[in-house]
Amino acid sequence: MADDDHIEALLAGLSRTQKLALVRGATDPEGTATGYLAGVEAAGIPPFRLVDGPLGIRAEGHRATAFPASIATAATFDSDLAHRQGAAMGREATALGQDVLLAPGVNIIRVPQCGRNFEYLSEDPVHAGAVGVGLIEGIQSEDVAATVKHFVANNQETHRTTVSAEVDERTLRELYLPPFRAAVDAGVGSVMTAYNRVNGTHMSDHERLVGDVLKGEWGFDGYVVSDWYGLESTVGAANAGLDVEMPGVAEATDDGTESYEWPDGIPDATHAGLFGAPLADAIESGEVPADRLDDMVRRVLGQMDRFGRLDGSPGASEDAGELDSQRHRDIAADVAARGTVLLDNDGVLPLDDGADVAVIGPNVDELKLGGGGSSETTPIHSVSPVEGIEARAEGAVVSAFGIPPIASVSLFDLLPFVGEDEAADDEETADREPSIDDAVEAAAAADVAVVFVRDATTEARDRESLALPGRQDELVSAVAAANENTVVVVRSGGPVELPWREDVAAVLEQWYPGQADGDAAAAVLYGDRDPSGRLPVTFAPESEYPTAGAERRYPGVDDQAHYDEGVFVGYRHFDDADVDPTYPFGHGHSYATFEYGDAEATAEQTVAVPVENVADRPGREVVQAYVRPPSVDGVDRPDRELAGFAAVQLDAGERRTVELSLDDLAFSRYDPASGWTVDTGTYTVEIGRSSRDVRTTVTVER
Ligand code: BGC
Repeated sequence: MADDDHIEALLAGLSRTQKLALVRGATDPEGTATGYLAGVEAAGIPPFRLVDGPLGIRAEGHRATAFPASIATAATFDSDLAHRQGAAMGREATALGQDVLLAPGVNIIRVPQCGRNFEYLSEDPVHAGAVGVGLIEGIQSEDVAATVKHFVANNQETHRTTVSAEVDERTLRELYLPPFRAAVDAGVGSVMTAYNRVNGTHMSDHERLVGDVLKGEWGFDGYVVSDWYGLESTVGAANAGLDVEMPGVAEATDDGTESYEWPDGIPDATHAGLFGAPLADAIESGEVPADRLDDMVRRVLGQMDRFGRLDGSPGASEDAGELDSQRHRDIAADVAARGTVLLDNDGVLPLDDGADVAVIGPNVDELKLGGGGSSETTPIHSVSPVEGIEARAEGAVVSAFGIPPIASVSLFDLLPFVGEDEAADDEETADREPSIDDAVEAAAAADVAVVFVRDATTEARDRESLALPGRQDELVSAVAAANENTVVVVRSGGPVELPWREDVAAVLEQWYPGQADGDAAAAVLYGDRDPSGRLPVTFAPESEYPTAGAERRYPGVDDQAHYDEGVFVGYRHFDDADVDPTYPFGHGHSYATFEYGDAEATAEQTVAVPVENVADRPGREVVQAYVRPPSVDGVDRPDRELAGFAAVQLDAGERRTVELSLDDLAFSRYDPASGWTVDTGTYTVEIGRSSRDVRTTVTVER
């Protein structure tokens, strides 16, 4: 029987009650899934388990490989590596009995303080789309459905459940929608709606964006799932095109959840069951057409069937079931090392094998797994910074904390029904009495001081500022004054301010490196691995971002955040405002040195450029192409837009011609009256090492 016939036959045999059970979450009897559909046993439809995502598998009660934060994966600018990570997560999802991964998150990084930037990919839509597609194709290659989230304009955590992103059509089309479009074109199995509203309408109920754009224009044929407790209404959502309510059941509490005050950023967990009896009633009364329910069920069954869940062979791939294998540990370490960005280096790095090293920082004995919230994972294998350096160093290693630990923050500690015992997890460090003097003494006696600093971010909260928390800036400055070979390794979920950067010898940005933390740090510090990460987000003083200083833009006034900057987000803004950022989008040094030859346009949408590694060591280069459009009267366009990129590994002395295919998006603009437009004229393709480091250009006519 053809797949469609099979699904139609199944559908025809289901009662309305059975159909309703396929569009509303229920309680997982095994307690592992984040979201659970019970299936219909009598009809041979098995249960369907959805699990978080996106830094690894968060199956309740189970450990799994803890991959680096998504922003680190994005910093590799390596879609093949993202694919390998996705495939590994797919295999682990299957090993833990899950069918769907609630990943990746592809929201554009608009607000530098956003608490979830670590779960997102980029300030640029072509980049976010390409890395997102790598992850999706990897996950789905292992017969697990991916869920791209959060559709759309979920760009801040402050007031995330109520705020309306007031954003014009051109900006939506050119900036915020494209990564989702790329996911749909790549065949993503499901799309999760965001908590926020867009231009006044909740995304769960957004008929134009969900029904018309996603399903209509883009032809998305998978299912649309709500964010958790993120369904606004029964009739509105059903008719807009939402297919599955999650988690579908209210949070169980001892004393009745109605009494809680839900803190900002936490959805009301009593708001559930809208696709249960209320949907049955709405169909009965004709407010929701009965064939809309059939369409919902068809979409869910379609994905179950596509990934082999209806023929009783979940995880049909021969590698299904792999968990915490050496291969997965290696992928986690590869992403962590390749995503590390060498922001500055006066030559101190890579370290000499025999150097005596002082490892300093308030949390040097702890991993930096990720940020807080639904993406938290618990690894089986882990290496702290001190352990990683001790294992690699041939010289002496001493360590000092310098200041009290920087506490992690988590959405789970903000929940009104979490007791104090559960919330306090930093007790074992409470009796430490670190001092900056001890750190300075250790630094002064060593050849090199390596200071590990971190921020603390979580879902449901934005950061208050881009400064590092606690006295970390003071600690770095004191250590730098005591040792001229001071290297700082930053762990942050997005941009941070580094006021001491000119006083230290080198700065590495390691994002949240996950379980491989110390190993990846040591591999890069000692030069076993080239730091080939590039910035997916501009680093600048907080006051220079387009959302700074205007409450109307961020966090919004009267629950409206006005995207007045339009498409001028990230490097598009810094170019337009003619402001030099601290570190531009795409920036990152290598231990090798690359020379670029002359670029050529080899086909309509392809350019080729010879790149040579002129150093005496291997290195990894990320070749980037940006398009500068011709000017058109009355149209304000970004100076340049990323069109394509490629990461290449080159041995010492190796020269290779790198081909880059250029995304249509960089040539087109969205005209609210006439739709996508490519202006006639000369486009300059800039090819180089970052958005501000152009090495060669070529022109193409359109
Ligand atoms: C998050 C989603 C997540 C879901 C399930 C929500 O709070 O926004 O990203 O997948 O919870 O945990």
